[in-house]
Amino acid sequence: MNIRIRPEETSDAGHIYEVNRLAFGREDESRLIGFLREGGSFVPALSLLAEVDGMAVGHILFTRIFIARENGARIESLALAPMAVHPDFQRRGIGGRLITEGLRRAGEAGFTAVIVLGHADYYPKFGFAPAAKWGITTLYDVPEEVFMAMELKPGALDDASGTVVYPEAFERV
Ligand SMILES: CC(C)(COP(=O)(O)OP(=O)(O)OC[C@H]1O[C@@H](n2cnc3c(N)ncnc32)[C@H](O)[C@@H]1OP(=O)(O)O)[C@@H](O)C(=O)NCCC(=O)NCCS
Repeated sequence: MNIRIRPEETSDAGHIYEVNRLAFGREDESRLIGFLREGGSFVPALSLLAEVDGMAVGHILFTRIFIARENGARIESLALAPMAVHPDFQRRGIGGRLITEGLRRAGEAGFTAVIVLGHADYYPKFGFAPAAKWGITTLYDVPEEVFMAMELKPGALDDASGTVVYPEAFERV
C-alpha cells in the first residue's frame, strides 16, 4: 500500500470533510475544520492529507493554541484536532503515519509542543503524556488521562503550567 502524506490544497476540502464525517460518524469534526480554516489559528502546512493510490483516506490537523499562565503570560503551542482515517482504511498504520509526519513537520516549522484531547491508549505511543505532568489543564470536563501533551523541543513545557485556550471555532460545534 502506497501511502502519501501531503499538505491540503484548496480542492481537498470536500474530501477532508467526507473522510472526517465517515470516520466520526457525524459532521461535527468536518464542520470544525471548516471553521478553523477561516480563523487565524489555521496553519495550512499542518493540515495533512493521507492518500492511497491518489484517494484521500486520512487527515490530521494541527492548529495554533496558547497556554495561559496564571501570571498572564501566554505560551504558544499547537493542538492536534481532529484526526481521522476512513473506516475502510483503519488499523493499517495510516493514522500513525499522519501523526509522526505531522509532528515532524510541526517541529520543522518551529513549534515546540503539541496538545491533544483523545484516546488515552493511542497517543502515548507517539510520545504524548498526560498534560497534568506539566500542570497544563483544560476547561473541558474530561478525564485527566485523555488530555495529553508532548514536547517537540525538550524542556518546552517546563514552565508551561496553565490552561489551554482553544480557538473560538471549537465552541461553534
Ligand atoms: C483513531 C484513528 C485516527 C486511528 O487511525 P488508524 O489508521 O486506524 O491508526 P493506526 O493504524 O496507525 O493505528 C491503529 C491503532 O489505533 C488504535 N486505535 C484505533 N482506533 C482506536 C480507538 N477508537 N480507540 C483507541 N485506540 C484506537 C489501536 O490501538 C490500533 O492498534 P491495533 O490495530 O494494534 O489494535 C482512526 O481509528 C479513526 O479515524 N477513528 C475515528 C475518529 C477518531 O476517533 N479520531 C481520533 C479522535 S481523538
